[in-house]
Amino acid sequence: MRRVLVPGSFDPVTKGHLDIAERAARLADEVIFAIAVNPAKRGLFTTDERLAMLREATADMPNVRVDSFEGLTVDYCKANGVTAVVKGIRVASDFDYELQMAQMNLGLAGVETLFMTTNPLYSFIASSLVKEVAKWGGDVSAYVPDVVARRLAEKLA
Ligand code: PNS
Repeated sequence: MRRVLVPGSFDPVTKGHLDIAERAARLADEVIFAIAVNPAKRGLFTTDERLAMLREATADMPNVRVDSFEGLTVDYCKANGVTAVVKGIRVASDFDYELQMAQMNLGLAGVETLFMTTNPLYSFIASSLVKEVAKWGGDVSAYVPDVVARRLAEKLA
């Protein structure tokens, strides 16, 4: 069974993340979309809210499962039989950041990382930018799934 992990903060999930999970789901038997919980970093949404949004946004993806974990990504991979981590690369600066983490994860536990180039339609989308635009009343509905657009509007009302 080829099981891959798409880890991240997902505060909130965007269409860019969903595109990566959807494409990874065509290459692997199972994709786990997992929120890495960082107790030191308070986001806009709680872990439970992020999980609920991820679940609704992936409801039509049969081999995508949603989860959360606290601790190291490599420990989650070992405990859950994950073959590789999949990360999306939007721009060159993503690669610098992701390469460092990928090499650390390889060194720590032999966990492989596969990079997938982002669909150019989504290459400028970032959760932080979506939150900033939504905060000032901008329309982010083209960049996030419907459930996230709704929850952002409720949260920021
Ligand atoms: O969406 P993000 O915040 O860019 O995702 C980064 C994330 C959550 C994948 C990374 O910070 C992570 O793996 N965190 C879990 C803790 C860990 O393993 N840290 C060492 C990474 S080499």
